[in-house]
Amino acid sequence: MPNTAHFRFPAEPRAAHRNPPPAVALSTNRTTKEACSMDYSVALVTGASRGIGAAIAAALIAEGLVVHALARDAAALAALADVLGPNLKPLPADVRDISGIAAALGDIALDVLVNNAGGVASVRPLQSQTPDETAETIALNLTAPLHLMQIVLPGMVRRGRGHIFNLTSTVASAVFPGTTAYAAAKAGLSQAGRVIRHDLAGSGVRLTEIAPGRVETEFYLRAFDGNREGLRESMYTHQRALRPEDIARVLVAALKLPDHVDIAEMIVSPSEQAPGGHTFPMLAETPSKTP
Ligand SMILES: NC(=O)c1ccc[n+]([C@@H]2O[C@H](COP(=O)([O-])OP(=O)(O)OC[C@H]3O[C@@H](n4cnc5c(N)ncnc54)[C@H](OP(=O)(O)O)[C@@H]3O)[C@@H](O)[C@H]2O)c1
Repeated sequence: MPNTAHFRFPAEPRAAHRNPPPAVALSTNRTTKEACSMDYSVALVTGASRGIGAAIAAALIAEGLVVHALARDAAALAALADVLGPNLKPLPADVRDISGIAAALGDIALDVLVNNAGGVASVRPLQSQTPDETAETIALNLTAPLHLMQIVLPGMVRRGRGHIFNLTSTVASAVFPGTTAYAAAKAGLSQAGRVIRHDLAGSGVRLTEIAPGRVETEFYLRAFDGNREGLRESMYTHQRALRPEDIARVLVAALKLPDHVDIAEMIVSPSEQAPGGHTFPMLAETPSKTP
């Protein structure tokens, strides 16, 4: 370690002490307006019928946005609109039906796109998955978000403003057995975001990837064959998972930053979860067996 005991910062010119710059000098010197991105007013949230998407829709409406809420379950969307009010616009659709969605959106000028719809067809080794399960997982988690960005980006770039959020997962960068197609799709979406961010540089459009760890939703219900109790006991009773509202708060925080600030990627995990690590609980409990 270098010896810094006798180090002195070079003396600053006296003038700098006589006329210290105001604390806000940097921002007041800006030639362009310091835009607050919450001037945004219209959002599209996919997978908004429950879980993380419903929480994001609620949070955006609380911030004053109109939210077009896309999911297949029309009744769930209608029930959400009853709770959240007229600023929740149900858009019942399969997110993979890209031409149907484009027609339904028409010329609505979207400021915010949240690519949130996603899912796993099964949690099994690849060789035990059917080709249909693999194709469905890629179409839902990778192809659909890419197609949606193709729909909304031309308008955002033309207007010089907008914010896209891609919900990936910690499986995009860490290894979770039995999730091959899902992990590949999320990793693909993650890398696509890095490329798109380059293509968008200077356009006024931001792109933020949010990679959640474990969040308590119905995400794994299908993999548990609809067994809610089994899912809760296995995944949410003995560990503290995130809540959907936690992800919504993180998203709104990134959205509300001035529009010259672009948070590129966020990994958001429960405090007790360290994805990608390796733990040895048995060794900790029985130290005498430590090799
Ligand atoms: N929960 C977690 O632990 C976790 C962790 C990491 C990342 N994520 C990601 O977070 C996102 C949200 O997951 P979640 O936990 O909230 O899951 P969820 O509770 O299962 O909700 C999934 C949402 O996606 C919609 N959806 C599924 N397939 C669709 C399709 N073909 N077309 C349109 N909408 C569809 C569902 O609505 P309908 O069924 O009504 O269509 C639902 O609104 C996903 O991208 C997921 O990969 C979740």
